[in-house]
Amino acid sequence: MTTLTLDGIDKFYGDLHILKDINLEVGQGEFISLLGPSGCGKTTTLRCIAGFEPIDRGRLLFGTREMTNVAPEHRDLGMVFQSYALFPHMTVAENLAFGLEVRKVAPAERAARIAKVLEMVRLAGYEGRFPRELSGGQQQRVALARALVIEPAVLLLDEPLANLDAALRDDMRFFIRDLQQRVGITTIYVTHDQSEALVMSDRIVVMEKGVVAQCGTPKEIYERPASRMVAGFIGHSDVIEGTVLGREGAMIVVETAAGRLRAHGPEAVSGPVHLMIRPEKLRPGLAENAMTGRVKKAVYQGSALLVVVELPSGQEISALLDADAAVAVGAELTLGFAARHGWVIAR
Ligand SMILES: Nc1ncnc2c1ncn2[C@@H]1O[C@H](COP(=O)(O)OP(=O)(O)OP(=O)(O)O)[C@@H](O)[C@H]1O
Ligand SMILES: [Mg+2]
Repeated sequence: MTTLTLDGIDKFYGDLHILKDINLEVGQGEFISLLGPSGCGKTTTLRCIAGFEPIDRGRLLFGTREMTNVAPEHRDLGMVFQSYALFPHMTVAENLAFGLEVRKVAPAERAARIAKVLEMVRLAGYEGRFPRELSGGQQQRVALARALVIEPAVLLLDEPLANLDAALRDDMRFFIRDLQQRVGITTIYVTHDQSEALVMSDRIVVMEKGVVAQCGTPKEIYERPASRMVAGFIGHSDVIEGTVLGREGAMIVVETAAGRLRAHGPEAVSGPVHLMIRPEKLRPGLAENAMTGRVKKAVYQGSALLVVVELPSGQEISALLDADAAVAVGAELTLGFAARHGWVIAR
């Protein structure tokens, strides 16, 4: 177990500047997700931490120990690759033994550790199977076991659930998180699935084009996104353009085509802004920040009714209402939101 520090890391592939001044402190036992669109540099970041790619600028530390130029096999970390990369010609037990042999762990201890870790991932009894004789989820758990069996200080997971079906993915999310918390291992988890990042992480790092766009708790990222990109990447939001008129106490007053609205936002924001509201925060008949328009669509979604309202400005906003809300397409509807549920982002 250790802390992990990325201190001003830059990475180039030829002329391409892939990672730009990445700074990150991961606490001991903390679970951090790297989240971002395809090609933003998530895998590259993991490969740099693992030592499979040299970095061009900056430093990498495990605890107080500088790791920047240490060979991968001496970095004391376990990694699960984007494709699980099990050795196909080896049994489950042999796959797990491999890293222990490399680290010169004595045979008796090897066997004990393999048994313990297979128990942990609920695969006791599968020692003699080959990867091709396992389901996708079981192979996934072997890959996880193989990373854990060396008892690494740091665990790196690159989209470990991407190839699984939805139900298994849900199970594995909780399984990995629970295991990580029981073992207390410092973990970096790469995903481009926002709901996965929200439910699993202590903190989320949102990346865009090789830059850290925002780093915060799931709640901070969801409720107080630093940019339009972050807001758009995590969940759905209604965005209304406007201009800051001033402040009323903690609230910011924004002039918009939908009227004068109040929301909270960062200290220094002024001028042209986006006002962001999550659809589940819009309420029919609420006088605060009321906006009236015509219902264009009402779609029953089981747990909620998705309503799309066209405002007189032409702007459409969507709201998630109670599934049994009485809403008729074509009728007028007033939706409001509490000022503390609106969030202002500089434009
Ligand atoms: N070996 C390489 N040589 C040159 N460019 C590379 C190399 N590996 C990756 N890249 C480029 O670096 C950028 C970041 O790639 P990376 O694999 O880190 O993305 P990612 O965020 O993991 O994406 P995904 O979600 O698709 O896995 C991409 O533009 C990619 O094309
Ligand atoms: Mg990747």
